[in-house]
Amino acid sequence: MVNDNPAMIIAARGLVKSFGPIRAVDHIDLQVEKGEIFGLVGPDGAGKTTTMRMLATILPADAGAISVLGYDGRTEAERIKEHIGYMPQRFSLYGDLTVAENLEFYAEIYEVPRRLREQRQKELLAWANLSQHSYKQADQLSGGMKQKLALACNLIHEPAVLFLDEPSTGVDPVARRDFWRILFRLREEGATIMVSTPYMDEAERCDRIAFTYNGRILTCGTPAAVKNLFRGQLLLLRAETIAMLHAARDYLRREQLLADVLIYGDALHLVTDDALETARLLPGLLERQGIRVTHLQPIPPSLEDTFAYLVRQAGGFAGRESS
Ligand SMILES: Nc1ncnc2c1ncn2[C@@H]1O[C@H](COP(=O)(O)OP(=O)(O)OP(=O)(O)O)[C@@H](O)[C@H]1O
Ligand SMILES: [Mg+2]
Repeated sequence: MVNDNPAMIIAARGLVKSFGPIRAVDHIDLQVEKGEIFGLVGPDGAGKTTTMRMLATILPADAGAISVLGYDGRTEAERIKEHIGYMPQRFSLYGDLTVAENLEFYAEIYEVPRRLREQRQKELLAWANLSQHSYKQADQLSGGMKQKLALACNLIHEPAVLFLDEPSTGVDPVARRDFWRILFRLREEGATIMVSTPYMDEAERCDRIAFTYNGRILTCGTPAAVKNLFRGQLLLLRAETIAMLHAARDYLRREQLLADVLIYGDALHLVTDDALETARLLPGLLERQGIRVTHLQPIPPSLEDTFAYLVRQAGGFAGRESS
């Protein structure tokens, strides 16, 4: 039995999925409790979408078992589908249909009884702040509105569990905050939500997260507990110019003076065993390379630092360079 704990709304054990030679999901175990916002967090190709598609019973697993709301993924997939909303990564609204018509379309797909539709649609439009826009074609909406309409379409049958695959990728930060407010409200109303994201600021908003990498879960826990796994000390370094910052990164990597050197916008995060000693020696050392340090201070690890650390422990490269 996959789910021997009734508080677990979503459970997976030993999930495996390959596409030809690619092992997209490699023995994943996870459990999500009722009322949680649970984040699948990881870079491109980590296996988030594949995991979610298996949990939503859209894609059969090669091995392993799942249960959602106590239903068995193998024998009761239809039951699961009735009770979940699944918003795929490339969720498509019908651009030439109006907002209201899109909702009607999904009411049909999700087989919402006709007598309930009008009321539900009205509520959802008000709830998503789209009532004023219901006559517009979906193509005419802003990115944030499209995203809220997509979510509303997946709530029309009042699912107890929501799977949202990168729902806010490509949406501006304000719309993203707005969207997360809606997710928090859904949680208050008792929904259980699994959301995937490559963004660490979204990961911070989840009750618990699973860091996914190369088809595996590196760790799972609250954002605070995950950050506690970081070992070492961190320094933030800024240099006089961006060119100097890049030169510092290249030099420190080449010389392998530190456990890790990561670039974050206009700063480097340096991982060291001894922050004090590093802070004492480094400016002089870099000065001799023609690099002037303007700022060097100890900082606590972020989720991103912890992800890079765990990937390093697992013998990989986080591949995240956002300079
Ligand atoms: N239908 C498919 N056919 C072949 N390979 C696939 C298929 N779906 C996924 N893959 C591969 O499986 C791996 C995991 O892909 P997946 O889409 O699950 O990752 P992801 O974490 O969702 O990435 P992204 O953040 O880019 O959406 C990748 O190497 C991908 O190329
Ligand atoms: Mg994906």
